[in-house]
Amino acid sequence: MKVLGIVGSPRAESNTEILVKKVLEGAKLKGAEVEIFKINDMEINWCQGCFHCQVYGECRQNDDMQRIYDAIRSAEAVVIGTPIYMGHVSAQTKTLLDRLLALINVLRGESALKGKKLVLVYSQGRGSDGENVMKELGVRLSHLGMSFVGIVGGNGLNEPGAVRDREDLLILAHKLGTQLA
Ligand SMILES: Cc1cc2nc3c(=O)[nH]c(=O)nc-3n(C[C@H](O)[C@H](O)[C@H](O)COP(=O)(O)O)c2cc1C
Repeated sequence: MKVLGIVGSPRAESNTEILVKKVLEGAKLKGAEVEIFKINDMEINWCQGCFHCQVYGECRQNDDMQRIYDAIRSAEAVVIGTPIYMGHVSAQTKTLLDRLLALINVLRGESALKGKKLVLVYSQGRGSDGENVMKELGVRLSHLGMSFVGIVGGNGLNEPGAVRDREDLLILAHKLGTQLA
């Protein structure tokens, strides 16, 4: 089985990325094949709201999102990680989420996300709203057919790499990964 990780932080030594990789490590231990994408390093345009995908079943933008669509289609589980920016997911992550519309047919109630397991990862600074933001996102993606496994993340993580000292989060991330495979 394949587990896909998607990282919505632009930073090097990103706490989000470290946690996503920990989840993937857990999945790999259980025999999963893993792949990771960092949105910031890719050419991914904003959704143009044209609804081409709702008519033709695919996004008309020929950018790196096509690689993510293929990877999601062939994965049994997806890990989406984001830093919390201004009380929400990062712009990179929001662009990814909007572009997921191309995997769904709203009128026919079809979703290529159906049945895929989901783990959500977040990292934040002084705030404490990440958990709720992720819970809400989990509900939304569940409505699109995903099977929500859990959330891992925390605050006080402004320093790049700070999460390496948070054994509780690293252990939880690894555990959630083992539940994906
Ligand atoms: C533009 C911007 C907005 C931010 N907004 C928030 C916020 O609303 N709440 C919060 O707790 N931290 C906020 N932060 C801090 C980041 O969430 C924090 O540094 C996070 O751990 C970064 O994740 P990363 O290490 O994966 O890049 C913000 C940081 C930036 C750059």
